[in-house]
Amino acid sequence: MGKKIRMIQLIRGFKDILPGEVELWQQVENTARSLLEDFGFKEIRIPIMEHTELFARSIGEDTDIVEKEMYTFPDRKGDLITLRPEATASVCRSYIQHKMYTTDPVRKFYTIGPMFRRERPQKGRYRQFYQINAEIFGVDSPLVDVELIFILVTLFSKLSVSDVNAHINSLGCPECRPMFKTALSDFFTSLNENLCSDCVRRKDRNPLRVLDCKVPSCRTAMTDAPSILDYLCPACDQHFETTKTALSALNVPFVVDKGLVRGLDYYTRTTFEIQTSALGAQNAIAGGGRYDGLIKVLGGPDIPATGFAIGLDRLTEIAGSTRTDLVKTPDIFIAALGEKGVSLAFEWNCALCLEGVKAEMEFGDKSLKSQMKRAHRLGAKHVLIVGDNEIKEGKVILRDMETKDQVSIPIENVVKNIKLKLSVSNIKRE
Ligand code: HAM
Repeated sequence: MGKKIRMIQLIRGFKDILPGEVELWQQVENTARSLLEDFGFKEIRIPIMEHTELFARSIGEDTDIVEKEMYTFPDRKGDLITLRPEATASVCRSYIQHKMYTTDPVRKFYTIGPMFRRERPQKGRYRQFYQINAEIFGVDSPLVDVELIFILVTLFSKLSVSDVNAHINSLGCPECRPMFKTALSDFFTSLNENLCSDCVRRKDRNPLRVLDCKVPSCRTAMTDAPSILDYLCPACDQHFETTKTALSALNVPFVVDKGLVRGLDYYTRTTFEIQTSALGAQNAIAGGGRYDGLIKVLGGPDIPATGFAIGLDRLTEIAGSTRTDLVKTPDIFIAALGEKGVSLAFEWNCALCLEGVKAEMEFGDKSLKSQMKRAHRLGAKHVLIVGDNEIKEGKVILRDMETKDQVSIPIENVVKNIKLKLSVSNIKRE
């Protein structure tokens, strides 16, 4: 006996999205695409790998993403490259690189695709996960932040995802944030022994990161931490007030969450997360906010920006529980018998598919009984039977699998006739 060949498995934290599941992903993506396009967003496709420096400079050296989670490696020439952990930095890079601001600084982009973070895998948290990102460049007005939150809430409602809450906060600007950071560092210094080693290291350099720590003892220690909202300068305060007023005017429910600092360093002013209790620990299905300084930090002009990313894996996990009817079944299965039957069936199968009729057939030499079984298993709505007898008589049999009605159809113009019959039976069904 030969040696058993070892099967190669998926990488931990990665997953396949199989037929049967993928239909829901397509539906979610199509709904988001169409909503975003109605709001004037244009699709942009950016690479999956970028120079490591792009992410280090944008997301921040002290963040968990950059410190611990990026898939970074030298390419064959020794240049450090990274599998993108998020899309915002790349969209900014592209906007700057193609000098899109020269013709019109105001741009709305969306992009859909995989991101990579080497986090500890668990339900709702993967090492390759998918996001739908939307970014708006060149608008300072808080109304566009509200537009983004409104789009998220509308999308979730279109997908029948209930039980969602919009959490919002403001992180101030380079004017007012330093005062808050000092107050925060002083507060953390006073409770040094309760913080984890990461937080002790970060509390002076980047105290906002401490607020984002997930370690339970750090979370408890933070209950009485100062609130950024008490430190906002008049301009940031006004920006946040207008955001809240405009959300209320659109009847978007929200809660102000002073602990919402987000895991990326580039945010300024309004940040937000859409949270749900349906997912357990990984409760954020979307997050985003304003990042007015990032384009400049990346070497572009001083242009404000804001955006969000939806976690598609998490969204499909909760949207999935309400949907069962998305898998497409064949309109017709052609049961072919004999060599001539198979070759005719193949011609018709191709012609029907071109006409938009979902057709399947049996390519092997199988009995009628086994072909009928397969048609049943596939959920085919009709079966067309073509064998030597049918060819001799110049007629094929079309069977409705639900009503069990059978009609015979002349072989001449068979594709046209089938199309006609199927549309009649579809109308009857509806
Ligand atoms: P983020 O909060 O890091 O923001 O990610 C956005 C969403 O992606 C999360 O709310 C979550 O649903 C999903 N997500 C993140 N990590 C994972 C994971 N490991 N497994 C599954 N889902 C995950 C950003 O990425 C920002 N770039 C958003 C943004 C766009 N801000 C401005 N523009």
